[in-house]
Amino acid sequence: MNKTIILGIESSCDDTSAAILRGNNVLSNVIANQKVHEKYGGVVPELASRAHQQNIIPVVEEAISKANIKINEIDAIAYTNGPGLMGSLLVGSSFAKGFSLGLNIPLISVNHMHGHILSHFINDDEMKKPEFPFLCLTVSGGHTQIVLVETHLKMKIIGQTIDDAAGEAFDKSAKVLGLKYPGGPLIDKYSLDGDVHKFTFGKPKIKNLDFSFSGLKTSIMNLINKEMMKDSEFINQNLNHLCASIQHSIVEILIDKILKASKQTGIKNIAIAGGVSANSYLRKRLSYMDEHNIYIPKFEYCTDNAAMIAIAGYYKYLNNDYAMLNEVASARLKF
Ligand code: KG4
Ligand code: ZN
Repeated sequence: MNKTIILGIESSCDDTSAAILRGNNVLSNVIANQKVHEKYGGVVPELASRAHQQNIIPVVEEAISKANIKINEIDAIAYTNGPGLMGSLLVGSSFAKGFSLGLNIPLISVNHMHGHILSHFINDDEMKKPEFPFLCLTVSGGHTQIVLVETHLKMKIIGQTIDDAAGEAFDKSAKVLGLKYPGGPLIDKYSLDGDVHKFTFGKPKIKNLDFSFSGLKTSIMNLINKEMMKDSEFINQNLNHLCASIQHSIVEILIDKILKASKQTGIKNIAIAGGVSANSYLRKRLSYMDEHNIYIPKFEYCTDNAAMIAIAGYYKYLNNDYAMLNEVASARLKF
């Protein structure tokens, strides 16, 4: 049995998370969500970093206690080094550096987006591991990418958004409908009782493997403004249909591009990752794609969590790829 124990730390946005992995097995994965942002309609960076400071020690203590290990059994600490909010990243990275120094164990820096992709390699009966090479549609609040993954550590972006991320498209649309932040899960929920074809919105015309969602947002706002002028109850009376139609449009844009990428590369192994991969309609649409091998992560590994950082750290650990104490966190860390 592999005995390598890694502590993972994730603090790139508004979730403070710590996880303990033994090899590919998750012993604990603790997440503290920050409710403070709800009323502002988006994450407030200064409030996020303050909340991380309050959460980080209790979250790490809980992860160690739930894993039922002793602190000196930890072989290495992996943390998110970017991309993300600078103040938030600094809390996790400073903690990780202090921890590594204090315990005299290796420090491993992880790119948040690699973490989302590598969450597929966590041992879990409900998840099968993708075969290499595979394409990963990585869709979150800050990113939308198609990544060609050749090995655990060798991957490259072959398509990405030129404006908003898919999660942003969900959240901004939700805001227009008067829903709370983050609106993605709410649109998912209200869509269940809506007609996906009730409203149609313009599709972007981007020729390569890149995405664009800004036109969709304008198209939604134009419809809402026009209809609300006629009837101020329009949103209330059509909330389910609006959500279902918006969700359908976003998911169709994603599916079209991943199919195009599959055709271009000849790769039939397709995975999804990131917060938007929790979307039930996207998951359903993918499950109908019989000619492809589809890999869908468990819900708890879709949105931000430290288990994904620990598993990415584990593969870097096996490769002796360690960080120095002077490694600088980067809000725009390169892939
Ligand atoms: O990966 P993630 O937790 O954080 C970032 O790295 O950004 O992704 C958060 C994003 C948010 O935009 C949120 O609205 C979206 O994922 N999201 C969803 C769902 N669950 C989370 N979007 C659509 N449907 C969902 N069920
Ligand atoms: Zn994320």
